[in-house]
Amino acid sequence: MSEIPAAPTADELTVGDEVVVESGPIAHGGFVVARHEGRVLFVRHTLPGERVRVRITEGGPGDRFLRADAVEVLEGSPARVEPPCPYAGPGLCGGCDFQHVDLAEQRRLKASVVMEQLQRLAHVERDVVVEPVPGDDNGLRWRSRTEFAVGADGRAGMRRHRSHDLLAIDDCLIASERVVGTGVLHGYWAGEKAVDVVAPSEGAPVVVRIPSDESVAPVVTETVAAQSLSRDFDVSARGFWQVHPGAAATFVDAVIDGLRPQPGERGLDLYAGVGVFTSALAQAVGERGQVIAVESDATAVAQARLNVEAVTPWVHYVQGRVDHVFGVESTGRVAGSRKGGRRRAAPRRPNSAMPPTADVVVLDPPRTGAGKAVITAVVALTPRALAYVACDPSALARDTAYLMERGYALTSLRAFDAFPMTHHVECVAIFERDET
Ligand SMILES: C[S@@+](CC[C@H](N)C(=O)[O-])C[C@H]1O[C@@H](n2cnc3c(N)ncnc32)[C@H](O)[C@@H]1O
Repeated sequence: MSEIPAAPTADELTVGDEVVVESGPIAHGGFVVARHEGRVLFVRHTLPGERVRVRITEGGPGDRFLRADAVEVLEGSPARVEPPCPYAGPGLCGGCDFQHVDLAEQRRLKASVVMEQLQRLAHVERDVVVEPVPGDDNGLRWRSRTEFAVGADGRAGMRRHRSHDLLAIDDCLIASERVVGTGVLHGYWAGEKAVDVVAPSEGAPVVVRIPSDESVAPVVTETVAAQSLSRDFDVSARGFWQVHPGAAATFVDAVIDGLRPQPGERGLDLYAGVGVFTSALAQAVGERGQVIAVESDATAVAQARLNVEAVTPWVHYVQGRVDHVFGVESTGRVAGSRKGGRRRAAPRRPNSAMPPTADVVVLDPPRTGAGKAVITAVVALTPRALAYVACDPSALARDTAYLMERGYALTSLRAFDAFPMTHHVECVAIFERDET
């Protein structure tokens, strides 16, 4: 007679083991937090309030937490839906987190993550509503730029969650019809690492083979049709542009509504890309005003010099890293430092193009956020208002705390569902000098 193996204790849990848990709250990153006999599990493919059987996918004895996939739903949430995408599910595509969640609930989950991060990191209690980006009916077919990985067999697909393994796919339901209509998922791309498909507002979609030489990537035309700005931008197919076609217009209106830049004012656009916010600021402050834009990417700066500086000469683009341009200490990795460790870079001099004061500032940093040194340098310009455009609620909350400690109040916060079916959310936060 064969013996039934004893269920592993919480301490023994390791990859492949299965246990039944109650799903707790949503966490930053799109996971639900659950506990098994006190051990913390970060679980995908479930929803708060469910009872699920989970399979451990990462971690083992001694680890602080384990990762797991819900592989069987014992008691489902009313917000659970059948995933529209056949590639969503345990062990499958790592691209989307919320295919199994009703769209309204996806937005509530993202709102609760923003609220929790602000509460925990900045001690700010605030109700947050995640607004849809105009043009989104069902959260599908929105992505106008998608990079697909290429497998050894030359087929394009998506990586499995937290894995280098490739899942060949025939369709991606969040990619726009124009992206998948290129036939990229049925092509043969042997020898490439990835293929990037860009369906710009104007003209035909382009497929860029990766690795590509940045400087020879095609230039595409993107249109912003907002209340505060209506114009086209030239942007490298490999350069930064919002992937949701409604996002750039939505964010620029939120920024301009929040800052209300006045004729004759001086604005600063940090992490400016090809100049979406720069252009709107330039239009609002007029030729008696001034806008200084800072961007590290040389191609984006060259494009903005032709397209933005040339039409609104009261704009001045500065190419460089924002921290370097402010002359503040960088805490980034320094080439040549032993074992690749972190070391303080030598203090730099501020770029002479940086003004002593500014009236309004836009910050739209990458996921890591602006950080303490940049926030301190921005505050030293004594702007009356700042707009912080954030793709990571945690970095936003951390920088909110720095701004509040330095005399600024969070006066408005809007959050947008610019990445449906994923856990990502974009926030536009307005800070004003606290005169109280
Ligand atoms: C989120 S994008 C925003 C771009 C632009 N505001 C827009 O909406 O199109 C961030 C931009 O910051 C640039 N960037 C990243 N790190 C930077 C740094 N340390 N200093 C200056 N620019 C940086 C990137 O090249 C990118 O263009």
